[in-house]
Order: sequence, then structure tokens, then C-alpha cells
Amino acid sequence: MILSRSPRTTEALALHLAHVLAPGDVITLTGELGSGKTTFVRGIARGLGYSGRVQSPTYTLAAHYPTEPPLEHFDAYLGEKEQTFLAEGGAELLGGEGIALVEWPERIRRFLPEDLLEITFTQGESEEERILDAIGTGPRGRELAAVLHSLAAAMESQGLLVAATAGEDRSR
Ligand SMILES: Nc1ncnc2c1ncn2[C@@H]1O[C@H](COP(=O)(O)OP(=O)(O)OP(=O)(O)O)[C@@H](O)[C@H]1O
Ligand SMILES: [Mg+2]
Repeated sequence: MILSRSPRTTEALALHLAHVLAPGDVITLTGELGSGKTTFVRGIARGLGYSGRVQSPTYTLAAHYPTEPPLEHFDAYLGEKEQTFLAEGGAELLGGEGIALVEWPERIRRFLPEDLLEITFTQGESEEERILDAIGTGPRGRELAAVLHSLAAAMESQGLLVAATAGEDRSR
């Protein structure tokens, strides 16, 4: 698990991860409302050089950021609409030419590839603490999970957050 102590830290972690992302990469972001999913997406967008507005595309279904590679940001919170959108071609954006980030992935599970990085956000003990659990499935997913954990370890050495390897005692 990774313990982030501020929105800026969550964004910075994602910004660094962005530098290793490649076309076809899919990352799912799971967690309650306000748990930090879009904050993480914003960090990735910033890492890819996008300085414009990044917000949850709940009502617009999906957002496209013209970065290189392009970034596709899905929010499947409104499950029904999202499924329609994906059935009409949105699914090609998952694992395609761009990088796909998916909030509320459980609602569109059937469209997701098997090879992905799954990040779960939970509230920590204080207001600005978030615990990020990153699990990679498939070769690329596992590679990205390992990269994220080593980035967290590097940030920990700078006193920015707390990183611990998966499976370690979480009671701190
Ligand atoms: N350590 C932290 N990491 C990320 N966000 C944090 C942290 N601490 C506090 N926050 C705050 O929590 C909120 C997270 O909002 P964000 O839009 O990223 O959540 P979300 O998971 O995308 O929610 P939704 O499901 O509504 O789209 C922001 O207001 C942010 O400032
Ligand atoms: Mg969001």
C-alpha cells in the first residue's frame, strides 16, 4: 500500500507514473466519491503535459485530452449511459492508441482488458490521508504496479509519502 498525505502528493505520484505510460495502457481507479480518483487522473494529465481543466467526466461520459499519447478518461458512475457509449465505439478507446483511465470500472468490467493496473483509494486516518492499493494483472499491469511502488519508495525517501510493499502489515 501507499499512503498519500495530501492531494498534491497523489497528483505528484501520478505525474511521475505518466512518464512511463504507453499507448494501450489501462488503469482502473476504484474508491468512494471524493477518494482521489480524479486527482490521480489530473496528475497523469499534467505528467503528459496537459495544463487544462481535468474533472470527472460523470456527465460527459468520457473526456479526451490531446496529449501524446492521448489520454482517455472514463467515469462509469452513470453505468447505463456509459455502457451505451462503450457499445457504440468507446470500447476501442480501451487498450487502443491512447492511455485509458477508468473511474468506477466495476460498471464496465466486461469492456476492460485483462492486462491492467488497478488502483483502489481508501480514506486514511486523517482528512487528507488516502491509502492507495495498486494491483497489476497481466505482464504490463504487473510492470506498472512495480513502477508505481518504486516511485512511491523514491518519494518516501524524500519524506513525501509512506510506501510499503504489498502484503506487509497494514496496521503501521
Ligand atoms: N491525499 C489525497 N489525495 C487525493 N485527494 C485528496 C487527498 N486529501 C484530500 N483530497 C481531496 O479529496 C478530493 C478528491 O476528489 P476527486 O475528485 O479526486 O475524487 P474522486 O474519487 O474522483 O471522486 P468522484 O467519485 O466524485 O469522481 C479533493 O477535494 C482533494 O483535494
Ligand atoms: Mg472523479
